[in-house]
Amino acid sequence: MNILVTGGAGFIGSHTVIELINAGHQVVVVDNLANSSSKSLQRVAQIVGQEIPFFEVDIRDRQGLSAVMEQYRFDCCIHFAGLKAVGESVQFPWEYYDNNIAGTLVLLDVMRKHGCKNIIFSSSATVYGDPAQIPITEECPKGQCTNPYGQTKSMLEQIMADMQKADPEWNVVLLRYFNPIGAHRSGLIGENPNGIPNNLMPYITQVAVGKREHLNVFGNDYDTPDGTGVRDYIHVVDLASGHVKALQAIEQHCGLAVYNLGTGRGYSVLDVVHAFEDANDLKIPYMIQARRPGDIATCYSDPAKAERELGWKAQFGLLDMCRDSWNWQKNNPSGFED
Ligand code: NAD
Ligand code: UFG
Repeated sequence: MNILVTGGAGFIGSHTVIELINAGHQVVVVDNLANSSSKSLQRVAQIVGQEIPFFEVDIRDRQGLSAVMEQYRFDCCIHFAGLKAVGESVQFPWEYYDNNIAGTLVLLDVMRKHGCKNIIFSSSATVYGDPAQIPITEECPKGQCTNPYGQTKSMLEQIMADMQKADPEWNVVLLRYFNPIGAHRSGLIGENPNGIPNNLMPYITQVAVGKREHLNVFGNDYDTPDGTGVRDYIHVVDLASGHVKALQAIEQHCGLAVYNLGTGRGYSVLDVVHAFEDANDLKIPYMIQARRPGDIATCYSDPAKAERELGWKAQFGLLDMCRDSWNWQKNNPSGFED
């Protein structure tokens, strides 16, 4: 298939471009580089042995997007482009609604005007709020999101569901990611956060590389086996291959389809710290701190629907994720900067 990948220079997008090309698809990337570097696509080219057509375009730029869509005939769009920092979204809600919601509305309109009505969207387990059931199935009701970032995911899911209902020519696949970590085995691409990392794994790797003194563990008084928060960490390469499998749903004219992409296993913060230490023979000093506002105790998926309907199942375990995250960070201590 001919696939438009928005946000393809970013963490999950760059890994997905590799899996798409390995599966024989043609890919064009659009990214405004707000949170990424075009060097990631140069590294992807090195890995797959071919150049990736890239356009530095903002998804809110109707003319820019239209020009790309006129040049290529896309069968499907995989839509990663968006801002994703939870704390930042509380500080800058307008910017988040403008970028994520207004941007996606422009994208959807330009797509339909060019006869492309197939989209795979990066949603998040955050739409479940404090989940009504564990493990979380796709039938679990959506919950209250505590921040504008989460609201944009939840609202965009609704917008695309409504559009699909009104016009059944649309095929919409909503992929609800759990916690992606890890990196490509080559160590050439990986997660490259700006400033102080918000997420657990990039923080751990920055402690390991000597950029931060210790990890702050946010709360050890949750109702979990060791008191620290439990999440469903998934290797980014597994997540990427989930997108390739999701193309099957599009080909089969799924209408609206929703899938969790997780492993189905929950690990605590301290499990991750210890797995990282074991996988890499390193010590990660940590200090227990107060809970982080907005965090929940436990969040892990029931991924059975994706296995049943798409034949997709995560292959990598926590040790692989820890090994590959470290392999990326130690070879690229400053990310894609020289
Ligand atoms: P990322 O920041 O690495 O990638 C997003 C990419 O989108 C970046 O390259 C950025 O430059 C680009 N972008 C942002 N706004 C844009 C705009 N207006 N026009 C064009 N490009 C734009 O993040 P990621 O971790 O790869 O996440 C990809 C998607 O998955 C996002 O939509 C994110 O919300 C979603 N998601 C991520 C996680 C996670 O933990 N990483 C979890 C659930 C969902
Ligand atoms: N944590 C720490 N110290 C840190 C960072 C995180 O103890 O420095 C803990 C958190 O309290 C939580 C766990 O590690 O218990 C995971 O935290 P992350 O920030 O890595 O991930 P979250 O589950 O909070 O959030 C992630 C994405 C969100 C997304 C959400 C649900 O960052 O974008 O998963 O999909 F909305």
